[in-house]
Parts: sequence; structure tokens; C-alpha cells
Amino acid sequence: MKKLILIILPLLFLSAGLAFAVSASGNQAQTAEKGEVMTKKVLVSYFSWGGNTKHIAELIHSQTGGDMFSIEPVTPYPSDYNETAYGVAKEQKDKGIHPPIKNKDISSYDVIFVGTPAWWYTMAPPVMTFLAENNFEGKTIIPFITHGGGGAYTIAADMGKLAKGAKVLTPFVVYERGDSNTAQKITEWLKGLAY
Ligand SMILES: Cc1cc2nc3c(=O)[nH]c(=O)nc-3n(C[C@H](O)[C@H](O)[C@H](O)COP(=O)(O)O)c2cc1C
Repeated sequence: MKKLILIILPLLFLSAGLAFAVSASGNQAQTAEKGEVMTKKVLVSYFSWGGNTKHIAELIHSQTGGDMFSIEPVTPYPSDYNETAYGVAKEQKDKGIHPPIKNKDISSYDVIFVGTPAWWYTMAPPVMTFLAENNFEGKTIIPFITHGGGGAYTIAADMGKLAKGAKVLTPFVVYERGDSNTAQKITEWLKGLAY
């Protein structure tokens, strides 16, 4: 009997040790995976003239965390709708002008949400400046677009052309400032993105 105990006891310790080693290495893998996601630095950037895109930016930011800033032209647009829509913005669109913007450094971010209202069938000109003048090589852009009925046009693809070397993911598209379901729709959209 003593002999049997002497054989079984070490075997019990050995199997317990093995079980511990397996579960410990499992935990380590999980931690490494989580660590990778958490080291990605997120920025929510947006341009907004009337407040709709800013509102959507805030809804996104409340779910993603990270930093947030607005893209601001050096010369603000007029507060009058017609002056902006049919004056300055139309002229910029027709002449392909990228208006100067206040300096924004994006170099430390990996994932950059870029929000714009649809302006004359594409993104607003200050967003063009933002994308063209920063180095987006190796970064991920996640567009979000508010519009007045025209939809997303080719804004996400247009963003990819300006932000050389960036990977552009599926945009979130919403009419004006959305409604009471918009936060939930943002949650589902974020879940579907691999970033
Ligand atoms: C200059 C200008 C151009 C616009 N062009 C379009 C357009 O081409 N298609 C569209 O659906 N809505 C257009 N709109 C409507 C805006 O996209 C829409 O109201 C948007 O939600 C405004 O966002 P904001 O409040 O953040 O500025 C335009 C608005 C302005 C001021």
C-alpha cells in the first residue's frame, strides 16, 4: 500500500503542474491579444459647419474613447447658409481649392475616424486639406458622413485617394444628425469593423 501511495502522489502533483502550465499559457495569449488592441491610438477627427457631424463625432467618441478634435479652416466659413453653400464652398469645390487649416498633428495615431458633411457631392474642402497634408501612410481611416439626402456619394473612396497609403474602412453614413437609434447603429457599425 505504501508503495502504491509513493507512486500515485508524484503522478498527482505532475498532472496538477501540467494543468497549471496549460492554463497559464492560455492567459498569456489572451493578454497579448488584448494588449495589441489597446496599444492602438485612436483619434476622432471631424469638420462640422452646422453641428450635425460634430454631434455624430461625439456619439462615436463616447463609444471608442481616444482623442477628439475638430478640423478648422484658418478662415471660418460665413454663418449664413447661402453664402457658405452657394458662395465660398461652391467656389472651392469648382476650383479644387484645399483651404488652409489650423495645424493638426496626427502622427501619433494609428486609427483615425474622419467625419465630414457631404458638401457638393463629396467631403468638405477642409477635410480634403487635412487628408492631403498629413502623412497617413500605414494608418487606418474610418470615415463618417452626414448628408442632407444625397447619401455617401464616393466620399470614402475620395478620402483614400487623398490620404496616400491609408487603409479606409466602411463609413458610417447618416442623414443630418440621425435620430434616437443612431447611437445603437454606431455600436453595430463599430462591432463590424476590424480595426
Ligand atoms: C456647402 C454645403 C453643401 C452641401 N452639399 C450637400 C450635398 O451635396 N449632398 C447632400 O446630401 N447634402 C449636402 N449638404 C447638406 C449637409 O451635408 C448636411 O446638412 C450635413 O448634415 C451638415 O453637417 P454639419 O451640420 O456638420 O455641417 C450641403 C450643405 C452645405 C452647407
